[in-house]
Amino acid sequence: MSAIRLRTSIPGPRSQEWVNRRTNAVARGVSQITPVFVERAEGAVIEDVDGNRFIDFAGGIGCLNAGHCAPDVIAALRRQLERFLHTCFMVTPYESYVKLAERLNALTPGDFPKKTILLNSGAEAVENAVKIARAYTRRPAVICFEDAFHGRTLLTMSLTSKTHPYKAGFEPFASDVYRIPYAYCYRCSYGLTYPSCAVHCGHHLEDTFTRVVAAESVAAVIIEPVLGEGGFVTPPPEFLSTIHEICRRHGIVFIADEVQSGFGRTGKLFACENFGIVPDLLVTAKSLGGGLPLAAVTGRSEIMDHTGPGSLGGTFGGNPLACEAALAMLDVMERDKLPDRAVRIGERFHARARALQERWPLVGEIRGLGAMQAMELVRSRETREPAAEETTEIARYCLERGLILISAGSYSNVIRLLMPLVITDEQFNEGLDVLESAIESVTTSSQEREGVVA
Ligand SMILES: Cc1ncc(COP(=O)(O)O)c(C=O)c1O
Repeated sequence: MSAIRLRTSIPGPRSQEWVNRRTNAVARGVSQITPVFVERAEGAVIEDVDGNRFIDFAGGIGCLNAGHCAPDVIAALRRQLERFLHTCFMVTPYESYVKLAERLNALTPGDFPKKTILLNSGAEAVENAVKIARAYTRRPAVICFEDAFHGRTLLTMSLTSKTHPYKAGFEPFASDVYRIPYAYCYRCSYGLTYPSCAVHCGHHLEDTFTRVVAAESVAAVIIEPVLGEGGFVTPPPEFLSTIHEICRRHGIVFIADEVQSGFGRTGKLFACENFGIVPDLLVTAKSLGGGLPLAAVTGRSEIMDHTGPGSLGGTFGGNPLACEAALAMLDVMERDKLPDRAVRIGERFHARARALQERWPLVGEIRGLGAMQAMELVRSRETREPAAEETTEIARYCLERGLILISAGSYSNVIRLLMPLVITDEQFNEGLDVLESAIESVTTSSQEREGVVA
């Protein structure tokens, strides 16, 4: 049976009415990726207020690896709802915060004593990781990467790479932030080719210490093991280990931002594990809360414990509902082996995407780890000119046919997969069928516009 059910054109009349109200009531800076208002959601399917049903390849931007309304998460929330909603962990603590900290300390890579702090959002967690690293090292500088995304607060926006819409007009930025190229091999900043480049971009960090900022001034390097918003870029294996080793040699805290890549997405619980990397601090959020706002910094005890009581935290950080949801989400992830499921999703996608790439020049590169898969779309395979408009058209085409799909990339030309990992094979295939017909339709119509005979 088809998971997609379309009763109206998209958006339907009720969604449209809410879009209008939203336009009048909500600040324009909050983007509207689809004009579809949600009534309910389950697993990998969203139903809108007009009764249309969509397959969800976006998962609330990677927050629902364990699925919409995972029954165990809902049951845990129901139990907690009957008990208490908020006391502030700093005033009158509760067990679930400690249990979750213990669990994250045990699950994250690294066979050494660890501690955790819980927060509300990815950006807040990144802010805290940098704050902790600076206090520990007593150094000011932070090194980040081209095409990185770390959030929209002052420091995290400063660490983020893409100018529009994230940075332009919001100057001045936080100081002591330095940026170097990521291993984005399809668009190498040095014009080199892997593996003959010998991972020049990784080794370049040493040169940065001579020409840009002294190593002894650098508190932390913050890196996404696989780029998220920047285009789902998977670096070659030596890149992270090179950076990690340089950090170790110079006493620089290595922070892995796993806000988007964490919790099974890449086929391992954390993306770092694919590269054999053990970060000093690991930042998580998104899928951690099973749909509730929750984030964490987990890391070496000696770094985490360096700051005094009262220096870290926040009123709502580690809210009891969110902690219970997270514990249940982790149970589901373990019981249902969702990281393994991510690997199978990735393989299935890869096989179909390869066939598409052979057929359509629009598909420039297919890349990914586990279910963190992407297609980079280009106007020409030779020039690699980003096909941003075509990417937008594909997302629109998909939405109109019942598939919610989002893009990524500094050039807005990457289609990324962030579906809940509980998606069934039938739903996944149905979604891919829609994506396949979108690529065919958009390619054909752009060829017609340009007068090319296919
Ligand atoms: C890698 C990464 N870091 C940080 C953030 C910021 O998280 P939040 O939107 O929860 O503040 C995001 C959000 O997309 C992200 O992908």
